Amino acid sequence: MLNSKDYISGEAISKQLGISRTAVWKHIKALKDDGHIIEAHYGKGYLLAKLSDFLTPEKMKIGLECQVFASEMLHFVETSSTNEEVKKLGEKGFPEGAVVIAEQQIGGKGRLGRSWSSPNGGIWFSILLRPTIPPWKASQLSLLAAAALQQTLLKEYKLASRIKWPNDLLVEGKKICGILTEMKGEMDKVNYVIMGIGINANLQEYDFSPELRQGVTSLQMILGEKVDRVRLLQKYLLSLEQYYFDYLANGFKKTREICKRWSYTLSKAVTLYDNGKKINGKAVDIGEDGSLIVNVQGNLLSFYGGEVSTQETQ
Ligand code: BTN
Repeated sequence: MLNSKDYISGEAISKQLGISRTAVWKHIKALKDDGHIIEAHYGKGYLLAKLSDFLTPEKMKIGLECQVFASEMLHFVETSSTNEEVKKLGEKGFPEGAVVIAEQQIGGKGRLGRSWSSPNGGIWFSILLRPTIPPWKASQLSLLAAAALQQTLLKEYKLASRIKWPNDLLVEGKKICGILTEMKGEMDKVNYVIMGIGINANLQEYDFSPELRQGVTSLQMILGEKVDRVRLLQKYLLSLEQYYFDYLANGFKKTREICKRWSYTLSKAVTLYDNGKKINGKAVDIGEDGSLIVNVQGNLLSFYGGEVSTQETQ
């Protein structure tokens, strides 16, 4: 009724639906809370000005092809951090594949204790995993998330993004996605993993703070138009599910191939920090275990995490 060219009065809605005017008002408010823009004009009634593009479970479920992932889906218009929300689900015993999505995070977390800017328009979500792998392998899941997204962007938009080891996705050398994988476990057992992914989808330059602007970009900025966030997240969750179950069955091989093929880091001069010590070398390979292999003065050393900066080289 709201989705027409003309305003419709509250009275007409209440008559057609056989509900009170107060009930109509409550429904209108609920629709507004879900992000729909509804104009209310005194004397004329209501008009749907713009449908929400919120990533609500109702919308996400239509056309979602996942078998296991996202069977449980929570959506927040605003939350502190979806990783923190998934942590709660992990503690409560929610099943593998449970997803938490937020339109906006006010305490978005980045790697190495940094914050992650998460305004409206991005895709900010986390997924709960319960893999039967030793804890040292958990960091491979960040590369898996990056590989699955790299392939999704390639298929959906013919966009050739690059994977910056250990877990960023770059386009034109600027960050378009960040991944934060956290784990709750014991010495030899993973209880659960929280895979948190932030995709700069429909963001414009002004959505980023001036300090960030140089190093980041978004799908909208690169493609010149907004992307369908619902479709992108549906396709990505499917790809993520396929990579994940292939990983559990067959190991890290497939992820490693994608990470090598689309690497931003390999063949570049890199600077890393090992226990605070600065190390310069050339990135030459990604190990079968997911490590970055660096040639440091003729010796091949493996690195397992931390910050890597790159410089162009021959
Ligand atoms: C990084 O590059 O530093 C990692 C950024 C990870 C951001 C995502 S957004 C969804 C999830 N919730 C968070 O608080 N962080 C991750």
